[in-house]
Amino acid sequence: MCGIVGYVGSRQATPILIAGLRKLEYRGYDSAGVSVWNDGTSRVVRCRGKLQGLEDKLVKEPAPGMIGIGHTRWATHGRPSDENAHPHKAGSVSVIHNGIIENHMALRQELAAAGAKFSSETDTELFAHLIDRQMQAGAPDLTTAVRKALAKVTGAYAFVVMSDKEPGTLVAAKNSSPMVVGLGDGENFIASDVTAILAETRKMIFVDEGDLITVTKSSVTITDFDGKPRHREPKTITWSAVQAEKGGFKHYMLKEIHEQPRSVADTLVGRIDLENDTALLDGVDLDVSKIKRIIFIACGTSFHASLVGEHLVEALARIPVEVDLASEFRYRDPIVGPGDLVVAVSQSGETADTMSAVREAKGKGAMVLAISNVVESSIPRLADYAFYTHAGPEIGVASTKAFTTQLIAMALLAINLGRKNGKLSRERARVLLAALTALPQKMTDIVEQGAQLQVLARRYGAAKGFLFLGRGSQHPIALEGALKLKEISYIHAEGYAAGEMKHGPIALIDENLPVVVLVPRGPHYDKAASNLAEVRARQGKVLAIATRGDTEIGNIADDVIMVPDTALELQPVLTVLPLQLLAYYVADFKGNDVDQPRNLAKSVTVE
Ligand code: G6P
Repeated sequence: MCGIVGYVGSRQATPILIAGLRKLEYRGYDSAGVSVWNDGTSRVVRCRGKLQGLEDKLVKEPAPGMIGIGHTRWATHGRPSDENAHPHKAGSVSVIHNGIIENHMALRQELAAAGAKFSSETDTELFAHLIDRQMQAGAPDLTTAVRKALAKVTGAYAFVVMSDKEPGTLVAAKNSSPMVVGLGDGENFIASDVTAILAETRKMIFVDEGDLITVTKSSVTITDFDGKPRHREPKTITWSAVQAEKGGFKHYMLKEIHEQPRSVADTLVGRIDLENDTALLDGVDLDVSKIKRIIFIACGTSFHASLVGEHLVEALARIPVEVDLASEFRYRDPIVGPGDLVVAVSQSGETADTMSAVREAKGKGAMVLAISNVVESSIPRLADYAFYTHAGPEIGVASTKAFTTQLIAMALLAINLGRKNGKLSRERARVLLAALTALPQKMTDIVEQGAQLQVLARRYGAAKGFLFLGRGSQHPIALEGALKLKEISYIHAEGYAAGEMKHGPIALIDENLPVVVLVPRGPHYDKAASNLAEVRARQGKVLAIATRGDTEIGNIADDVIMVPDTALELQPVLTVLPLQLLAYYVADFKGNDVDQPRNLAKSVTVE
């Protein structure tokens, strides 16, 4: 999500840090900062907003020195501000961090009880305090202090640490968040992304899970978190700068499709409460006894996520749900008011139609919860409560990882409400929480089937139109599959409730119409399979998305993509993945500009 750059050598660090952060700008950020050591102490300079603001500040408050760390922040804990920007300094220790510290609440309490004073709302600052305490308690070196502090931290992270007490050393640790060490001649670099340091060196060590790295200008030492030595062979990068930005993928969209297991895992961090078998909503404490009805409002892909949300909330919390297009909501003088919880879903948090709908709902006395991917964006600020997905910045216009993380947010909301009002049993909640935790691995399994979808995209990509069919919570996935295909391949596609096919779209079916049918295992299986047979009977070409282990489906569909099994309520998170890949490969096969499809904008700020 955020960007990390570190330098240790014999040149001025600040220009190298800023140049590196510039290369990471495309990922999106809301503030930036550096900490550079010189003459006994490190100077921290931070600024909310664009890198240019930081550079202007550095002209007035220069930070000379030959060892330093720099960061672009994309807020997760605490709003975007100068104080919350990284690096965070406690005593002699400066820290930059990507990811989320899961046990931040407990750590904050523990540190506060021991007398720590905080200067930000972030989870990162806590880590700086933990290390500083270890240094003060006589840790023999910075690496040992970091190792001891790490033992107290859970979550997903990449940290880089510097201490005034040990100038010339950078210590870094990785758990889930990406990190790379660049090897120079009498100088070394650390970054969250190859791109940041590619102009300086092509010789890199890809840091692995659980690596603790000590970097000086002439050495790189790697151990595990217990101090056992590890060896990593340096690799020479042959990617161009543009390829590197895309992580070696041809397009951002493909990179983001592959990032989904990570962004789903990030969205789950700190939100699964196994002690009480419930989901936590980052302090959003809804009074469920006051909620008579939930109305989701959203546009585009977020609208489809909301339709899945309807199934989740009704199934797990038994609260009546309506879903409305934000662009329509306020034009029909909606009946909404106290007793209604309006959930505004917007990955960007800036969509003008959704914002107007929120104003309308608030004006009529409803309570508003925003689900967004951008901390402190306009919609969460307007709402009474905000709950954030942690997909990281999404560059491709066609939304993928923002969508699946929205589905996770909906599931967490539904579990939280269901547990609160007693409609969801402890046992069922436990099963669902375990299934949520298992999703990232299953998602990896699917996105790795790309080659199969590439073959199918070639087979079907010349079609003039597509039909997508699904029942139950697979209906919104059919809509989303059709939207993805339309957006980037410019092929007309319709998503339909499978049961409605016989009431109209069946007239379209002939040997030239590919029909994608979502038939995972579950209560709708037989009916959806019958719809599939109806298509086949009219010579339609059927591509089925089914559950692994289904031995029947291959006999009645032309092609089958298998997805792993999961809890019924969570199936949409898996079945949408092959549809994203199908859309991607069809568009790429046609030579389209996948990341910036014609006429579309990532965030629509006009009504
Ligand atoms: C635009 C984008 C869509 C997105 C929709 C809603 O139309 O092209 O991908 O789904 O806006 O955006 P939001 O940021 O509110 O989720």
